[in-house]
Amino acid sequence: MSTNLTVIVLAAGGGTRMRSKTMKVLHPIGGRSMIEHVLVAVQSMEPDRVVAVVGHQRDQVGPHITGLLPEAVLAVQEEQQGTGHAVRVAVEALTRTAAGTPMQGTVVVAYGDTPLLTGESLRAFAAEHEAAQCAVSILSGIVAKPHGYGRVVRDEDGDVLAIVEEKDATRDQREIAEINSGILAFDAGFLAEALPRIGNDNANGEYYLTDTVQLARDAGLTVGAYPIDDVMQTEGANDRVQLADLGRELNGRIVTRWMREGVTVMDPATTWIDSDVVLAPDVTILPGTQLLGATVVAEDAVIGPDTTLKDCEIGEGARIVRVHAELAVIGARASVGPYSYLRPGTRLGVGGKIGGFVETKNADIGDGAKVPHLSYVGDAEIGEGTNIGAGTIFANYDGVAKHRTVIGKHARTASNNTFVAPVEIGDGAATGAGTVVRRDVPPGALAVSAGPQRTILGWVLRRRTGTAQAAAAGAAGAAEPGSGEVSHEADPGVSPEAPHARD
Ligand code: UD1
Ligand code: CA
Repeated sequence: MSTNLTVIVLAAGGGTRMRSKTMKVLHPIGGRSMIEHVLVAVQSMEPDRVVAVVGHQRDQVGPHITGLLPEAVLAVQEEQQGTGHAVRVAVEALTRTAAGTPMQGTVVVAYGDTPLLTGESLRAFAAEHEAAQCAVSILSGIVAKPHGYGRVVRDEDGDVLAIVEEKDATRDQREIAEINSGILAFDAGFLAEALPRIGNDNANGEYYLTDTVQLARDAGLTVGAYPIDDVMQTEGANDRVQLADLGRELNGRIVTRWMREGVTVMDPATTWIDSDVVLAPDVTILPGTQLLGATVVAEDAVIGPDTTLKDCEIGEGARIVRVHAELAVIGARASVGPYSYLRPGTRLGVGGKIGGFVETKNADIGDGAKVPHLSYVGDAEIGEGTNIGAGTIFANYDGVAKHRTVIGKHARTASNNTFVAPVEIGDGAATGAGTVVRRDVPPGALAVSAGPQRTILGWVLRRRTGTAQAAAAGAAGAAEPGSGEVSHEADPGVSPEAPHARD
């Protein structure tokens, strides 16, 4: 590790080809902004100081950077007069904050828009630079299409002479396949002397940082160029097409890494995993699955198909099928889906179940508790072992405020209930089908609210004459119209034998 390392990240350019109100380096890829990827790589070098050069939309970019890396020094480049000018602004900002301490050690310059760059590559490059005691080192690359890049010009012995920018290059120089990735390392003392001597007499009228190579050569100092094998690591995304290309590449790398770590991915092409996701061995991911943000999945869990999990925690052996979930915590061996929508604050206990067409939010569902079918569970606590009947609505909103429903352990609530919060249902309590629970139900009690059923015999034959319904009723021996009414006494709608919708 370098003993005195300064890293300068350039991020002042406009990025107009994004055609976006969002600054280029802030565009997300693999669950992070482009510049966050770079800052993560930079941090792994354990630098003594990091300076970020901001300019365009710096009110967006500056806070984003200091949010990620509070100790970063922000240097403002009012006008983008070239990479050499940008680095000069960075060094000036540093000199101001470090009370005029002369620059020492190694300075690495990187760009804020190279999301595939790894810390490993940066560290290896800095180590080579330092071992060779170069004044300047270039992280170069051999590419099939060098157009647009600065070319690394070497003499017949292979020594680096200069970097020539596309616009300033001769026809012969344009044939050179070795390009400057933009990532450079400097001896700090040399850089401080060279910066003021960079001119802008070139095709772009800009101060080129790359002119430092020529300046080092002129002073008889050593210049190194180290081609990186994996050139995509230094590629920037200038427009949204390149952003998608790099996004696919980044994802492919992440998915491959997890497969090597013991995760089964049935279809890598339709599986998207963000950079910060953590997966245990023997997790299985089925096609069409996106694992986003800080999602963590434990061993033997099976996720998918067609599932999106953002910032979720999935327990060992859990089964998640066709689910959209955010900020949910799912216990070991629990089962969710298909077609469930888990909103923030959902917690499902060990062995619990959230079934088909169920929406949950701020819901703490205990171990072994089940919400199997067609329900909305909002602002709720459901005790362990409790079963919620099909089609239950936790009515948490009275039009003004949200309220909680608390249900105890091992309760059995029947189908098509509405719990009008705030309300409590005690341990081991029961409810009848269609009950609207407005009052607390004590432990062990049965609550019913549906009125007694009236059965008017022959009604269909009289009121639906001539329909298929009436014909079917007649054929089944329906009573004549006017045969009277069966009235039922108190009908709780639930008894140990009464059918619940259950799995
Ligand atoms: C630069 C290099 C070129 C290299 C290429 C790799 C120079 C002169 N040229 O060219 O050799 O092959 O990168 O992509 O260095 N920036 C600022 N302030 C400025 C100018 C640029 O912060 O005044 C930042 C940009 O935001 C960007 C980076 O520096 O992140 C590179 O700038 P860009 O204009 O893309 O440089 P190139 O012309 O592509
Ligand atoms: Ca560029």
